Amino acid sequence: MHLAIIGAGFVGLSMGVVLADKGHKVLLVDVDKAKVEKINSGIAPFYEPKLSELLEKHVGNNLKATTNYSELEKAEIIFICVGTPSKPDGSIDLKYVISACESLKDVLKHAKDYKLIVVKSTVLPTTTEKVIIPILEKSGKKAGKHFGICVNPEFLREGSAINDFLNQDRIVIGAMDKKSGDILEKFYRNDFPSSPIVRVDLRTAEMIKYASNAFLATKISFINEIGNICKKIGIDVYKVVEGMKYDPRIGGHFLNAGIGFGGSCLPKDLKALINFAKELGEHPKLLEAVNHVNETQPERLVELAKQRIGELKGKKVAVLGLAFKPGTDDLRETRALPIITKLLDEGAEVIVYDPIAKLPEELNGSVKVASSLEEAIKEAEIIKIVTDWEHFKELINLEHYLEGKLIFEGRRIFDVKPENLEIEGICW
Ligand code: NAD
Ligand code: UGA
Repeated sequence: MHLAIIGAGFVGLSMGVVLADKGHKVLLVDVDKAKVEKINSGIAPFYEPKLSELLEKHVGNNLKATTNYSELEKAEIIFICVGTPSKPDGSIDLKYVISACESLKDVLKHAKDYKLIVVKSTVLPTTTEKVIIPILEKSGKKAGKHFGICVNPEFLREGSAINDFLNQDRIVIGAMDKKSGDILEKFYRNDFPSSPIVRVDLRTAEMIKYASNAFLATKISFINEIGNICKKIGIDVYKVVEGMKYDPRIGGHFLNAGIGFGGSCLPKDLKALINFAKELGEHPKLLEAVNHVNETQPERLVELAKQRIGELKGKKVAVLGLAFKPGTDDLRETRALPIITKLLDEGAEVIVYDPIAKLPEELNGSVKVASSLEEAIKEAEIIKIVTDWEHFKELINLEHYLEGKLIFEGRRIFDVKPENLEIEGICW
């Protein structure tokens, strides 16, 4: 089929290469000219496993990027995948969705055939009905008659985006009418026959996405709170989870205690849902507590070092990891940032090392960047593990650099505490 994807970011580009690999003609539309040029030269604009290979394979054949919306005329299904960031007050910023819809409206105005518009960006319940459809109908074309609308939230994770899209655990299709939903269901059924499909209305699909991310966030803050209690009495929270997870009602996923959840979505979607609930006159106490635990958890990693050695002023601290999780170079809402900022506030000298993520601009000049794990730990007096990169397990073999040094784990990387290292966990 001829498919178009608006927004060639983590979601748009990752699904674009998979759909090109399935044999579809994929047109990626993005306002970022530099990104479009990179994609058309076969260069991935961000790191994601398997992305480069698939991009190289399909660019110029099944896959093309453009900044020009007028090239969309052949597209049968158009996926909206632009970002939906937070405003400073935590509410959702729809500016990219609105500008994409304004451009799509002009495409619809001149369209000769029926097109299906699919909202994949994460938007709050009722946004498609109240914001997206009214803009698109300014084209003079009618939703349900000249074009169809679906909400099809995305559940992929960064660092495994391609695999997640290939093996979707469920496909949620919210449709404005039967025709729209049937077209999208047929499309997915052909290419992803083993994924269960859930058919609902537009606003339910929008809510499924927020409820899913809020639930994942809740699991993490829950186990972090349990971990904080365990720490006080010498219990390893990871052993507690070991004893909980065989209960199928509980399960073992997303119960890794540590410095909390970062990334482009869990924090922003949680805040957007809290804000939305308040607008509706609700007091979402549980969701607010989940957020509060997450905001305060990074500080604990710094406090732990202070409790063990006192003042951090003038101390050399190595921060291992910048990315919000392993397998990505994404720094959005990374827990590394509040930790480094607090260390600098305490007067520590900070040296950071990440295998692929680059230092955020706001820290330029304030911290040193090491080009290897060895370089980072050699001079440091204290070491903080902030991202759970596999590579950091190499610390076991670098004991000659680590004599007399304290290692604080913000993410659990060692299942069994190595005997040759002095390690303390944030909540274990
Ligand atoms: P992103 O910021 O990586 O990419 C968005 C892209 O949209 C950018 O390249 C930007 O230049 C482009 N863009 C902005 N305005 C545009 C316009 N008017 N026309 C064309 N392109 C435009 O965002 P992302 O991480 O891919 O997230 C996209 C959406 O998917 C968000 O709503 C997010 O919440 C949701 N989501 C993200 C993930 C994830 O893992 N990153 C997973 C599931 C859902
Ligand atoms: C998350 C969801 O897992 C995806 O299903 C969803 O599609 C996506 O958000 C989105 O809406 O964008 P992602 O942000 O890529 O995916 O990363 P996760 O693997 O969920 O990790 C998020 C954060 O939680 C990371 O900082 C990670 O270190 C932390 N985490 C995760 C924990 O602290 N403990 C855990 O047990 C799991």
